[in-house]
Amino acid sequence: MKAIEIKHLQKQFSPDQWALKDVDLSVETGKVFGFLGPNGAGKTTTVKILSGILKATQGEVSVLGFDPAREPVKVHAASGVLTEHAEMYDHLSAIDNLIFFGEVFGLSQAESRKRGEALLDTLDLTAAAAQKLKTFSTGMRQRLSLARTLIHQPKVLFLDEPTSGLDPESGKSVNQLLNRLAKEEGITIFLCTHQLRYAQEICTDYGLLDQGKLLAAGTLAELRKKVSTQTTVRIEAAKMPQIAGMTLLGFDSFEIPVTTREDVPRLVKQLVAGGALIYHVEIHEPSLEEIYFKFVDAQKEAPDE
Ligand SMILES: Nc1ncnc2c1ncn2[C@@H]1O[C@H](COP(=O)(O)OP(=O)(O)OP(=O)(O)O)[C@@H](O)[C@H]1O
Ligand SMILES: [Mg+2]
Repeated sequence: MKAIEIKHLQKQFSPDQWALKDVDLSVETGKVFGFLGPNGAGKTTTVKILSGILKATQGEVSVLGFDPAREPVKVHAASGVLTEHAEMYDHLSAIDNLIFFGEVFGLSQAESRKRGEALLDTLDLTAAAAQKLKTFSTGMRQRLSLARTLIHQPKVLFLDEPTSGLDPESGKSVNQLLNRLAKEEGITIFLCTHQLRYAQEICTDYGLLDQGKLLAAGTLAELRKKVSTQTTVRIEAAKMPQIAGMTLLGFDSFEIPVTTREDVPRLVKQLVAGGALIYHVEIHEPSLEEIYFKFVDAQKEAPDE
């Protein structure tokens, strides 16, 4: 089942400014979808439309089958939104903030407390539970915002740069939590980020957005097929014979394009037969970062419509 559907989505903020230009996209239930793109690409605008904060200029969107513009209450009940500037109360403690937002979503005070305490524990904030929010560091605040987003057990999570202010350790524990939510509880996660390495760690599917246009979408394997960036073998060897397509990377270090993994043993045999003394062989597949730049650079070179 599709948790999120976006059809021909357009958003115009002023006569000559289109933030989204005909975006088509869908996300299956239980996926961790990475929505990637440079500053100003239109990621936050998309999340705001999906969560009913902004209205689309044209096109249709649905979240768990509901249109956020027409049925915002249903969409809010089933989803959690963590935006760049999550609102919470500075003069309330961490746990009181969570209880407050739990009650806003219709949970009882006891339920809100129980769930709030469990979330504080998962996000390593138990020691700060009674501390007022105003004393929190940026990273603590960001983790508490995530707890607030999860208080009513949403089925779809919209996260806008959820780990931008976190240290590596906290980032890791947030990743583990998001992975668990997707894998064990079947929650769908729509995650906006421009941290590509981070995205590659936790996302199952990706959409690449630039200047309001969706450049590509799919799994990493699908995106790899779409770009011409090739799988290569990197070899450290002395006495290398000449091979077609080979490039020199550095002293005694070479790169040779291949089509599949099966080409590797054949290639190694050929090199040894040709007299090479091989010290190291490594298959290199294009990373999300390399794929991303291929698409974004191609877009820059494309003539404007
Ligand atoms: N309320 C608004 N009024 C006018 N223009 C806006 C508004 N919100 C966003 N924009 C414009 O729409 C475009 C997309 O902005 P958006 O915030 O969606 O980008 P983003 O991909 O989230 O970028 P970032 O990575 O910097 O967060 C930008 O050109 C921005 O200036
Ligand atoms: Mg943004």
